[in-house]
Amino acid sequence: MSGAAILNALGEAVRPAHARIPADIESAFDYERHAVHHFEAMAWRHIQGGSDRNLTLAHNRAAFDGLHLLPRPLADLRGGHTRLQLLGQALAHPLLLAPVAYQCLAHPEGELASVRAAMALQAGYMASTLSSHTLEEIAAAARAAMQELGHGAPLWFQLYSQPAREHTLALLRRAEAAGYQAIVWTIDASIKRSGFALPPGVEAANLRGFPSARQTSQAGQGAILLGTPLADAAPSLADLEWLRAQTRLPLVVKGVLSPAVAAEAVARGADALVVSNHGGRVMDGVPAPIEVLPAVRAAVPGTPLLLDSGVRCGTDAAKALALGASAVLIGRPQLHALAVGGMLGVAHLVHLLRTELELAMAQLGCARLEQIGAEAVWRGR
Ligand code: FNR
Repeated sequence: MSGAAILNALGEAVRPAHARIPADIESAFDYERHAVHHFEAMAWRHIQGGSDRNLTLAHNRAAFDGLHLLPRPLADLRGGHTRLQLLGQALAHPLLLAPVAYQCLAHPEGELASVRAAMALQAGYMASTLSSHTLEEIAAAARAAMQELGHGAPLWFQLYSQPAREHTLALLRRAEAAGYQAIVWTIDASIKRSGFALPPGVEAANLRGFPSARQTSQAGQGAILLGTPLADAAPSLADLEWLRAQTRLPLVVKGVLSPAVAAEAVARGADALVVSNHGGRVMDGVPAPIEVLPAVRAAVPGTPLLLDSGVRCGTDAAKALALGASAVLIGRPQLHALAVGGMLGVAHLVHLLRTELELAMAQLGCARLEQIGAEAVWRGR
């Protein structure tokens, strides 16, 4: 129907992105508050939602809020910075943009806008297998931005195993050819409920020509999940060994909560892990990554750990770093900022988070990231 307004979750016409950042946006929480106006209602529910009763979704935030940081004034902060090395790659700061699917739901420029913002603000960027622009287009946008700016950040490709290994391999080879510098293999979300239907004009651009995953998940003879091709094709340790043998790029395994699984993944060649519950979107009633982080840290000493799920401010990042993470990933807030302000919004979001992190470091008496130790978190004695 031509002329009919597309409605947001408040029943109003969806607002396009602002050309200038609204003056009252000073945090990721402000972006979330604004973002509801800028998404079509179904897309908003899809991105905001968690699984089942949303217990884990809420718990991810509560777990961060339940930790307290202990300021340490009188420290020497001279010569401080937020730089780090991760997988042999230089990062200006430990705030990376998580792989988030279908960013054209948030803004017509989708991933092209978010990757430009990431390069401008020197934030590591993870392009999703389910991106709405192709991985080659995203890499080209990153490269062009880096050339123009004279600086940038690592660009990594998030890989979802496909039902047929030849298709997984095709994605891997394309990512290598396009210049991605690491593979982030997500293991926690191959089986989850999703009733969301993409609107016209938004597609899984990288998967054009691949058979639909849904066709392979048809249950037969009364089977619900177990015993179906979908369950049979879930990522396994054998797949990890296979993937490890296929590429020389650093391999990051995303979606680990269990210390035992962390140890197995590292034993089979993972170079780093993302401690994550997928933003509370997969299984309800699981721990928050920030809670299991110390146990995972102890299980794989020396392996770089990244963390996501619920990170919304600089003090959250400081808490994760204090408990053993090298860096954190930002999920939903990048979509909020993209919808509200396009490329400018995402760049502003990263700037806000980075500013908050540096303020927290100064309060904690830490001039460099490696000085943020477990003693920064108050244990009540
Ligand atoms: C995701 N996430 C995700 N992860 C991944 O490995 N590949 C993907 O394509 C997606 N897509 C995706 C879409 C949407 C709408 C959301 C909200 C999340 C998970 C994402 O990388 C990250 O783990 C969580 O978003 C982190 O939690 P927060 O920051 O959203 O609380």
